[in-house]
Amino acid sequence: MESFFVVGGRSLRGEVEIDPAKNSLLPILAGCILVKGEVCLENVPKYSDVMAMIKILEHLGGKVKFERGKFSNDNLIIDTRDIVYCDVPNELASCVRSSIFTLGPILGRKKIAKVAYPGGCDIGLRPVDIHISLLKQLGCKVIDKNGYIYGDASKRREGDVMLSFPSVGATENAMMFAVLGHGQVRIFNPAREPEIVDLQNFLNSCGAKISGAGSNLIVIDGVKRLHGCRYRAISDRIEAGTFMIAGAMTGEKVVIKNVIPEHNQALLSKLSKTACKIDVRDDTIIVERGGRLQSFGEVETAVYPGFPTDLQAPMCSLASICEGYSLVIESLFESRYKHIGELLKMNCDIRCKNGVCIIKGRDKIYGAEVSSPDLRGGVCLVLAGLVAEGYTTINNIELIDRGYFRLEDKLTSLGGDIKRIKCEKKVDNCS
Ligand code: UD1
Repeated sequence: MESFFVVGGRSLRGEVEIDPAKNSLLPILAGCILVKGEVCLENVPKYSDVMAMIKILEHLGGKVKFERGKFSNDNLIIDTRDIVYCDVPNELASCVRSSIFTLGPILGRKKIAKVAYPGGCDIGLRPVDIHISLLKQLGCKVIDKNGYIYGDASKRREGDVMLSFPSVGATENAMMFAVLGHGQVRIFNPAREPEIVDLQNFLNSCGAKISGAGSNLIVIDGVKRLHGCRYRAISDRIEAGTFMIAGAMTGEKVVIKNVIPEHNQALLSKLSKTACKIDVRDDTIIVERGGRLQSFGEVETAVYPGFPTDLQAPMCSLASICEGYSLVIESLFESRYKHIGELLKMNCDIRCKNGVCIIKGRDKIYGAEVSSPDLRGGVCLVLAGLVAEGYTTINNIELIDRGYFRLEDKLTSLGGDIKRIKCEKKVDNCS
């Protein structure tokens, strides 16, 4: 078990480089299942979710290795010519939500699949009915039994499919299933997140014929096979957003490099209300706290290009030190408020009623021992710890490692005081 130990009150200053997006890499890794060749993914951070997907690829028969390249992270070489298996067992699937992304590509390549229910962060029910509905619309027989999803695509068909809600993962699963085929598949009401466009670009680099990602209609013309390619995923808009919020909360001058500002428009518009200073230049965003932060008003999460649910928790930390009241509303995941209880331990003033959080900013919040409830809830506690008076210990940080790689090194290089510590299992002695 590891924890972060944060000494609050240090201003952040300097440059930080944003890594390739976890939420692009995970579906791209699943997409490799379709490829009969070698893929080189450049600059891949060892997010623990990525490492879990690598284990799944290896289990299926893929050969995967890291190789030193010219980027700060190693390149990942994936050879999926010899994919022989078509099952993802529970012990692998339960480690990561994106294990469900393998269902479409395994069915696309092997025509049958047996994939256990996915794990991932506990932020709500997270059903997979839309994934299954799309595969059924494309002629697959799908049976959901004893924690496994069994698929048979021997009678697959092409044509039009429609999502009842623009789920990111379900859109990606359907795209990957449709790539290898004879006719045309049109996906109506797909998710429009930048990572969907990135998956399209990756698959097209391997010889797929997909267009329309990022719009309301994705069109896929089936191809016979996919070949290998060299590809670099887009930069992580959630990591960029996290550092933008960190800059606003603590920054003397935080220079965030390798950003696609267009992907963070919703956050930029909220941050501009807080009176922090923001300078956007090509692929760089500079954020400086300036004086006393003002409330950003209201933020409600929504599908892209709306405000990302993955930045909802960090916004709660920001609101906790802004003057005035802020409202935070989570509209996508019903249980994504577990960080609130931890923020309360740090003297934050937050009330939650009917799914709405009312946050009153305080002049001071205080360090405490807290626990990451999930990936983004964990990072929100790190942000709070950086501005809190005193020390904050954040337990359960393996959840943060799912989607931030060497977070503590990046914050330390900016002047933050944060250490990763091993912690002994605690014995509760209060008899
Ligand atoms: C992806 C992201 C995650 C982000 C989320 C929303 C990855 C690896 N993860 O997750 O970081 O928070 O998008 O932007 O890309 N739903 C159903 N049935 C389904 C599928 C989804 O009801 O079959 C619901 C979910 O419970 C949730 C909403 O749809 O309420 C959005 O989920 P979805 O877009 O599928 O998110 P993920 O792909 O799991």
